[in-house]
Amino acid sequence: MNRTTLSVAAASSAMALLAGCGASGGGGEGGAGAGRGTTLRLALNQSEDHPSFVALDHFADRLTESTDGRWNIEVFPNENLGAQQEALQLTSDGSVDLAIVSGTQLEDLNKDFVAFNLPHVFDSVDHQMKVINDKKIVGGLYSSLEDRNDLTVLGGFTQGTRSIYADKPVTKPADLAGMKVRVQESKVHIRMIELMGGAATPMSYGEVYTALQSGVLDGAENNEVSYVTQKHFEVAKHWSRTDHLVGLDYLVGNTGRLESMSDRDRAAFDREWAAAMKEFTRLWKTETAQAVADAKSAGVQFHDVDEKAFRKALAPLTDEALTTETAREVYEASRRAAG
Ligand code: GCU
Repeated sequence: MNRTTLSVAAASSAMALLAGCGASGGGGEGGAGAGRGTTLRLALNQSEDHPSFVALDHFADRLTESTDGRWNIEVFPNENLGAQQEALQLTSDGSVDLAIVSGTQLEDLNKDFVAFNLPHVFDSVDHQMKVINDKKIVGGLYSSLEDRNDLTVLGGFTQGTRSIYADKPVTKPADLAGMKVRVQESKVHIRMIELMGGAATPMSYGEVYTALQSGVLDGAENNEVSYVTQKHFEVAKHWSRTDHLVGLDYLVGNTGRLESMSDRDRAAFDREWAAAMKEFTRLWKTETAQAVADAKSAGVQFHDVDEKAFRKALAPLTDEALTTETAREVYEASRRAAG
């Protein structure tokens, strides 16, 4: 990882918070085992009403219980430990123990991760979950950052289907001409928006609301749950169902920290995390329906699009982006698992 990517401002604000937390060992605040065990700090960019926070909070409670307080997790929401790029760097350094990061953040560390960031690689959330829980497909990928970056990928939460939202309908590629559309910090996603017809503006999640409000951006792309929990619907009232991508968030952990667990506690951690992934997928479906209903009652208009035209525009991206043999194999194995 490029250690210079960590901006000084973000680093110092995150470090101030980390200093206030004390060391990981010896326990943190809250939780049945507080004071006796080790508290793992988990960085999250979502708000407390996002299903990621809810599922992670339950994961934390269950971990404390099943390790009899030897291991606890404290979840820091709202980018309090830094936006995802910084949180990933801090997890690699070991100042943070765990982080939820979007798949786009791992592209620069290992190009093989690109396979899961592509439009139309997953047909649905269920297809995506089947793939990411298949060790034959993801085993090598998940351990690929351990030696160089001290990062272990533990599994993931779906980001659901992502679409475009803006202050006007976007029903065909030509509608995006001249529009500045926010993307995550990813070369593949920059290219994705270009191919769809717009001008891509990479930016961290927490900056999007203000950028939409001030007109720095004309639109963005995300799922309905983020659109509502981040309140972006207040400043971009048209949702166009481009459904161009089923996105993926990973739970990444500091490898050294995870290896410091006893086998028994690590097995409990893995078990409870597997339960958290299942709970999240269940929650995702109900929360997405709720977010659509909330957006509609706030006056958001939903639009169908010329899906074929967007698919055609995006078609060259797969070959362009799959630059390694492993990325192609992972992509092809994922497609074979569809159905
Ligand atoms: C989703 C995803 C986040 C990601 C965000 C974004 O909300 O769950 O991990 O950071 O999209 O667009 O930046």
